[in-house]
Amino acid sequence: MGQNRAPRLQGDAMSERSSAVTLRHFDYIAARTAGEDDFLRRLKDEARAAGIPPIWIAPEQAALMQILLRAARAREVVEVGTLAGYSAICMARALPPDGRVRTIEVSEKHADFAESRIAASDVAERIEVHRGAGADVLPTFAANSADAAFLDADKASYQLYLRECLRIVRPAGLIMADNAFAFGQLFDDAPTDREALAVRAFNDYMATVRELQSIIIPIGDGLWVGVKL
Ligand code: DHB
Ligand code: MG
Repeated sequence: MGQNRAPRLQGDAMSERSSAVTLRHFDYIAARTAGEDDFLRRLKDEARAAGIPPIWIAPEQAALMQILLRAARAREVVEVGTLAGYSAICMARALPPDGRVRTIEVSEKHADFAESRIAASDVAERIEVHRGAGADVLPTFAANSADAAFLDADKASYQLYLRECLRIVRPAGLIMADNAFAFGQLFDDAPTDREALAVRAFNDYMATVRELQSIIIPIGDGLWVGVKL
């Protein structure tokens, strides 16, 4: 048996258990995934300089989301939580020229920053920033008006956002949700992040939702990917 074979977690049937994945595997994946361009690298530097929390998605996660959006032939995407605009720009790049990302941001400061960077991006025509709380803005979006949604905002509201997105996204559309691994604190006995408990509750809820076929993909901080049935 090769030394580099990843240990199996349990059992001996190749197909029943996943191979244990280490940080080395993620580095390996990242080294084989198209990374960021200079525009996105600069966007992150500028966001840091502007005091915006550095909690954007990893390039490999962006690649996965782009692949899923392309496979779903998505044209209309809804995002909850714009932050610096990084993920909105990444998603917009996977849409056709007449595609649109409607991204919702509650912080005026973050919305101002994102709008300025989006305007300078190659996909400025494909992104609308909607200012306000997800709980207020999502109900204004029409039923079946999106092909995909991405939840990446306050975790305590994820269940509410999911219910709204199940209305807004068309059948066979995608619903993705970030941070299923609770900022790395999923299994901590005493998580320091207040939102970690909300993530656990949301994960347990997702496992019961019958309107979606969904799974957590262990990339980035854990990405829920579901298809609306
Ligand atoms: C946090 C939020 C996120 O959406 C993320 O991807 C990483 C961290 C946070 O609130 O700490
Ligand atoms: Mg996130």
